[in-house]
Amino acid sequence: MLVAIDGPAGSGKSSAAQAIAGRLGLVNLNTGATYRAVALVALREEMDLGNEGALIAVAARMELSADGVSYGGAHILEDALRSPEVSAAASKVSAHPGLRRVLVERQRDAARKAEVSGGGAVVEGRDIGTVVLPEADLKIFLSASAEERARRRALQTGRESELERISKAMHNRDKRDSEREASPLKPAPDAVVLDTTSLSLESVVSRVVELANERRNNVRKSS
Ligand code: DC
Repeated sequence: MLVAIDGPAGSGKSSAAQAIAGRLGLVNLNTGATYRAVALVALREEMDLGNEGALIAVAARMELSADGVSYGGAHILEDALRSPEVSAAASKVSAHPGLRRVLVERQRDAARKAEVSGGGAVVEGRDIGTVVLPEADLKIFLSASAEERARRRALQTGRESELERISKAMHNRDKRDSEREASPLKPAPDAVVLDTTSLSLESVVSRVVELANERRNNVRKSS
């Protein structure tokens, strides 16, 4: 079973995807980590973020699994991927179509491996339902108001006093992610769109688990 979860920053994707994967007994794959990892290496090596060829060479050495991302065989620590600099750079590098093609292949490989070995995956990102796994059994698109998403991000990172700055950075990232030509952020035509602005994490998780169980039963009945 493959569940695609897409949505903008602060829509609650990561927390929801982790909990949903746990309840369904599936592997959780976070595709944003692959773009973040390319951005991290590019920043560390002082590469030009506009040099797609150099970024592709970095992407070719990335691997994605349930444990996160590795580069050249070495695991990249999750904390290193979460800084505001890496977030902004990840959004910039993710606009390169050639780089996306390489990372999308890595993401599909990871999902296929999870299907073979663990029964499936909950795959989280921006273009999972539209590009990475258009064949997913269930596609969810999470949204929330811009104010609520900035508030959540500020709380999550312990930087409540920087709400205005976070809100601005998020706005710029949303704009870049949804206006880019290559795989812009948008719901797949057959996605279930959930506005999480006034929903608790638990209600989002139970709703998606319910939908996934319905789909799983339908698949069993028809096979
Ligand atoms: O989900 P995230 O915030 O960790 O993603 C970081 C950046 O990577 C985000 O600005 C857009 C990009 N991204 C993408 O273009 N496609 C994905 N499937 C996942 C993330």
